[in-house]
Amino acid sequence: MRILLIFLTFFTINSVAQQQDRFYATMNIVDANALKIDIPEEIDIISTQGNEAAVYMSTEAAHKLHDRILVHGPGYIFKASEAEAMKALVEKPTVRTRMPLTITEDATVAQVLEVINTQNIEDHILELEDYGTRFHTTATGTQAAEDLKTKWEAMAALYNRSDVSVRLFNHSSTNMPSVIMTIEGSELPDEYVIVGGHLDSTSSQGNNDAPGADDDASGIATITEATRALFEIGFVPKRTIEVMAYAAEEVGLVGSAEIADEYSDTNVNVVAVTQFDMTNFNGSANDIYFITDFTDSTLNSYLMDLLDHYNASGDHAITYSTSLCNYGCSDHASWTNEGFMASFPFEASFAQRNGNIHTPNDTYTVSGTADHATKFTKLCAEFLIETAKGETVLGITTIDENSVFAVIDGNILRYDASAASVYYKSIQVYDVTGKKVAEHAINEKQGTIDVSRLSSGVYVANFVSNSGATAAMKLSKK
Ligand code: BES
Ligand code: ZN
Repeated sequence: MRILLIFLTFFTINSVAQQQDRFYATMNIVDANALKIDIPEEIDIISTQGNEAAVYMSTEAAHKLHDRILVHGPGYIFKASEAEAMKALVEKPTVRTRMPLTITEDATVAQVLEVINTQNIEDHILELEDYGTRFHTTATGTQAAEDLKTKWEAMAALYNRSDVSVRLFNHSSTNMPSVIMTIEGSELPDEYVIVGGHLDSTSSQGNNDAPGADDDASGIATITEATRALFEIGFVPKRTIEVMAYAAEEVGLVGSAEIADEYSDTNVNVVAVTQFDMTNFNGSANDIYFITDFTDSTLNSYLMDLLDHYNASGDHAITYSTSLCNYGCSDHASWTNEGFMASFPFEASFAQRNGNIHTPNDTYTVSGTADHATKFTKLCAEFLIETAKGETVLGITTIDENSVFAVIDGNILRYDASAASVYYKSIQVYDVTGKKVAEHAINEKQGTIDVSRLSSGVYVANFVSNSGATAAMKLSKK
């Protein structure tokens, strides 16, 4: 009895002493397991998630850990309670990189606004509508993804972009792949700027008749034309740009959730994401409504600043306001859920949304023009130029420059492509701001162009081959 009493007293005192210096924390699972083997009484592993463990540990375990891992800092993150430790395990960090959001690229934006083409947007919406359905389980849904990959590849090839690649992202929860175009950043390739929309469609009246023109062929057409316009002006981004056409959005953000989850797990440094889902229905007084829930308020304000700066008045005027979905209504929510900075500029107020979506009546004829989507395309291009930054590099030279020749002699530009092994169909002249000031079809291999209307200064002559490859050279006019 006495022995038992002594034992109990000792145990109780000891255990109280132990309890007092114990606290909750999270740490790497490898360290937690090692401590549990070394000093099992000093640490309890409460829960694990990925490579993290939530623990209840003593100060002795903390010292041991510090000796063991020899890193700066304690090697664990203190948590005030068990609930806090558990929450830290399931909660992803909020936004990773908060890069400065600045507006500096006036000259490049001015160029891009001139080349965005409304007809291309209309053509693309009709092309997507023509699949009949792009529901994620249908053959035409998958076909639409494969064809979009081909289309984006052809677009990159047309502008001779060796820095662009297109891939299908295969999913575990749907057979339909997402499509991702990557424009590799020239200076900060590990920092990603993303624009996206969803390629799939749906209909409450049977998924075999789901044209999805507004929802969301319009968004895919928007991001495609914005990218094409960037290629046309020779924009080379410093950060990596990804253009994403998500699969299976309509059945619960499936495609974007898998992509955002993978990007989070593999620590892809995504600095900003903008979603384009429904851009061609002009349903409200203002042009663009920024959805303020499940989005990042800093990025939303920045997009509004872009519109204030570039689209306050004139030919490119765009008005805006804000609205709410009240739920994670599109793929931006997948990025927000993983702690990335995301925005969702929408075509109307939520209350005045397009009533034809998710029916066989969601067709291009409802709008009959792509003017509304053109405004979103402008915002998309502005967002990409200003967040990825970069320069306009005209005529990325891939052909031996010595095979072509041009010089400005007084008011005459003389060119000679007779030594070239490829056939050049035209010669373009750009000024230093990147504005095209002359274009001339090459009929003979040697010829002249009247440049009397050009003021003196530096120009770039750009020879365009039949394949779209170009060779550039600098000219100066006295
Ligand atoms: N494009 C819609 C979202 C939308 C509709 C936003 C109307 C604003 C106004 C999207 O494709 C969609 O239908 N989303 C689903 C939810 C999603 C989680 C499946 C929806 O809104 O029911
Ligand atoms: Zn949609």
